[in-house]
Amino acid sequence: MASDSNGLESDSTLQSIRYKRGSLQLLDQRKLPLETTYLDIRDSTDGWNAIRDMVVRGAPAIAIAAALALAVEVSNLEAFNGSPDDAASFLKKKLEYLVSSRPTAVNLADASTKLKEVILKTAATTSEASNVFQAYIEAAEIMLTDDVASNKAIGSYGAGFLLNQKKSLKLSVLTHCNTGSLATAGYGTALGVIRALHTGGDLERAYCTETRPFNQGSRLTAFELVHDNIPATLIVDSAVGALMKARRVDAVVVGADRVASNGDTANKIGTYSVALSARHHNVPFYVAAPLTSIDLSLSSGEEIIIEERSPKELLHSRGGLGEQVAASGISVWNPAFDVTPASLISGIITEKGVITKTSADAFDIRDFVHKTTGQSCA
Ligand code: MRU
Repeated sequence: MASDSNGLESDSTLQSIRYKRGSLQLLDQRKLPLETTYLDIRDSTDGWNAIRDMVVRGAPAIAIAAALALAVEVSNLEAFNGSPDDAASFLKKKLEYLVSSRPTAVNLADASTKLKEVILKTAATTSEASNVFQAYIEAAEIMLTDDVASNKAIGSYGAGFLLNQKKSLKLSVLTHCNTGSLATAGYGTALGVIRALHTGGDLERAYCTETRPFNQGSRLTAFELVHDNIPATLIVDSAVGALMKARRVDAVVVGADRVASNGDTANKIGTYSVALSARHHNVPFYVAAPLTSIDLSLSSGEEIIIEERSPKELLHSRGGLGEQVAASGISVWNPAFDVTPASLISGIITEKGVITKTSADAFDIRDFVHKTTGQSCA
C-alpha cells in the first residue's frame, strides 16, 4: 500500500483529506462516485465553506479538515505583527468561526477546545508569536494521524466484540450513512468495524442503506465497499425492516456525530428508525465512535442541536444537486440527524474498548472514560 502525503498508509482514491504542511486538498464528496476531484483549501474561509457545502462531511473528517484549513492559513501567513497573545486570539477567533460551520457533530468543537488549550499554553510560555503558530500547526497535524490509529482500534475492538457474541459462522452487518475513510482521516469507525471483520474472514455481507436525502450510503459507503472488494448489498432506507424480518442481519453498526453522557446518540437521519426496527427484530444495535464524539457536558440527547438542511436536498435529486423531483410548492422538513435513545443501543464501540450497559439498561460513560483515559469527568 502506498504511503500518502499525510505519511499515512492509504489508497489515494479513498483519501478525503490530502495534507502536507502549507497545503490542504479536500476530495469533493458531492461529486462521488462519478468524479474524483480535489479542491484546494487555502484558509479557514475555504474550510468553513467546504464543511457547510458538504465537500467534506462526517464528524471526524470535518474536525480535522477545519483544524488543517487553519494550519494552512497560518503556515502561509506572510507576516504577523503581534505578540504571542495576539497570535492566540487570532487563532481562537478563527477556530470559533470554523466551529460555526455545522452544529451537530461534537468532534469539531472538541478539536477546537483542545487546540485552544495548546495555543494558550504556548502563548503563556513564549515571547514569539511564531511559536504559537508552530504549536498550533503541530497539534492540528497530530489530530490527522491520531484519527487513523483510533479508527483502527475501533475496528479491532468492534470486530472482536461482535465475534464473541456471534451466533452464526460469519456475520452480516447493516450500516447507515457513511462512516468510512471518507468520513474520517482514514479506515473509518462503523465501516472500520466492517473492514476489520472482512479482513479477518468473518464477514458474510455488509448491507448499506442509501441514506436519503444526501445518499451518503449509496454514493460513498457503497463506493468504499466496492473499492475494498467487500461483499456488500445496497438497500433503500425503507427496506431495513424487511431485511431484518428476513433474518439477513446479525448486527447493526452505525457511527455517531455526538454521544451524550447517558449514551443517547445523534447520527444521520434515519438511524433512529433503524434502531427501532433492530429492537423489534432482536438485532443488536451498536454505535462505533471515537471518544472525541462523546460530549460529557450533555446529560441526554435532548440537549443536542439538530442541524436542519435546505429543502432543496429533498426537492431535487442527488441530494439537491440534480433535477427537481418533488412537487413545486410542497413544504419540507429536513433534519440532517436524529437521536437514538441509549435504551435502543446495545454497546458503544470506542478506540479504548466497548462500552456496555452497567445496570438498569444504562451506560456509565463517565466511568469508562475516566478508567480508560485517566481524564476526570466533571
Ligand atoms: O451529514 P454528514 O454526512 O456529515 O453526517 C455524517 C454522519 O452522520 C455519519 O453517519 C457518521 O455516523 C458520523 S461520521 C463517522
